[in-house]
Amino acid sequence: MDYFAYVRGRLHCEDVSVDALAAEYGTPLYVYSARTIIDHTRKLARAFAPAGDPILCYSVKANSNLSILKLMRDEGAGFDVVSGGELHRVLSIGADPRRVVFAGVGKTDEELRTALERDILLFNIESEEEMENLDRIAGGMNRVAEAALRVNPDVDPHTHVYVATGKKETKFGVDLERARRVLARAGRLRNVRMSGLHVHIGSQITRVEPYVQTLQRLARFLPEARAMGHPIEWLDLGGGFGIWYKEKLARSAQEIADAVMPSILAMKVRLLLEPGRFIVGNAGVLVTRVLYVKESGKRRFVVCDAGMADLIRPSLYGAYHRIWPVTTDPAHGGEAPDEEQWRGPTVISDVVGPICESGDFFAKERKLPPVRRGDLLSIFSAGAYGYAMASNYNSHPRPAEVMVAGRQAKIVTRRETVEDLVRLERVESFDVDPGAAAQGPG
Ligand code: LLP
Repeated sequence: MDYFAYVRGRLHCEDVSVDALAAEYGTPLYVYSARTIIDHTRKLARAFAPAGDPILCYSVKANSNLSILKLMRDEGAGFDVVSGGELHRVLSIGADPRRVVFAGVGKTDEELRTALERDILLFNIESEEEMENLDRIAGGMNRVAEAALRVNPDVDPHTHVYVATGKKETKFGVDLERARRVLARAGRLRNVRMSGLHVHIGSQITRVEPYVQTLQRLARFLPEARAMGHPIEWLDLGGGFGIWYKEKLARSAQEIADAVMPSILAMKVRLLLEPGRFIVGNAGVLVTRVLYVKESGKRRFVVCDAGMADLIRPSLYGAYHRIWPVTTDPAHGGEAPDEEQWRGPTVISDVVGPICESGDFFAKERKLPPVRRGDLLSIFSAGAYGYAMASNYNSHPRPAEVMVAGRQAKIVTRRETVEDLVRLERVESFDVDPGAAAQGPG
């Protein structure tokens, strides 16, 4: 569900037409719908409300724009952060540290220290060594860190291998066998209080069974953890709830909640959730302008001004994103950006970017209405892991981001300039001694 829709052949974000936004702010441009973000947040909150008083910790990595974070804070959400940088972001919009959880396999001493100083709610511990380190640092600060052990339930989330985290063979958390040993060790630490269990089995999960299976395993493990003397009050179920990219496969918040609720209630824990994509994925599109249309071999290429540096998901995961012109002819049906409903002419095209890599594409052999130089295309479901994973590769300034609420549209990230690109760099000169001939190829 989202608030992007075609009205008489023109794509709108809420009450604003997307071609007007592109004319005003330029392209490539990320456009977000605030109402969609709020709608998804409330759907999740409502569905999981029977769990008592769950805390929805928005996963900042999905889209860390400050205005989105503020929107989430105003909705009463907490935050799931994975770095000092993300912690800085949420604190800078006035988030309550008591609603912040900190995950990630590689937290540095400095990050742990800062989070302890700010008195965050929970550290999601990913290894025994990290736990010992947290105990040491907390001890030095005369504090007791609240922690949840991230266990790896060895469940197959049936998603892309790069975003599957719940199998034993991944680097995340500790398997259940080791978890027993880590908890035994935790019992002897004075500055870490193990008050929760954490799982996050993967991302873009479109079935409920992996969650149900995970909870069954946790439900068996929990009494053991409590019997070892750990006051397990929190269950952090992670995120991973899938959205619609192409097929309407993903489950609704209600379906997921209904499937897991009996186990959660039986476990007598307070629930934490870490949704990212579910909140922002369908709340954003990437608008790009067609620079050139060319043919080579048997292929037709639509070359856009956005590329893999702006949205890397198709290149990295082979991810499917719907793509459709921002303005279409309503006489041909297709008020939805949907090739099946479109009765007008189509051309099979590869939609590609300007980056010097063959892997720089948004779609291959996609059926699209014929487009020409200067036309605008919308790449849908780009709100999560879009701008957040953008880079300056090939020295392309990153796009602007604009947020729409009703008739209002405001820039929430200005477009980078070429001056921004070189701001951190220095031009130094070196006297290089060529020395002896170096060994090796070349
Ligand atoms: N919690 C933890 C510990 C995570 O590692 C993640 C995502 C989340 C929550 C949020 O997951 P979500 O609800 O958004 O699925 N770049 C990839 C996705 C990577 C997900 C990383 N972890 C993509 O574009 O598909």
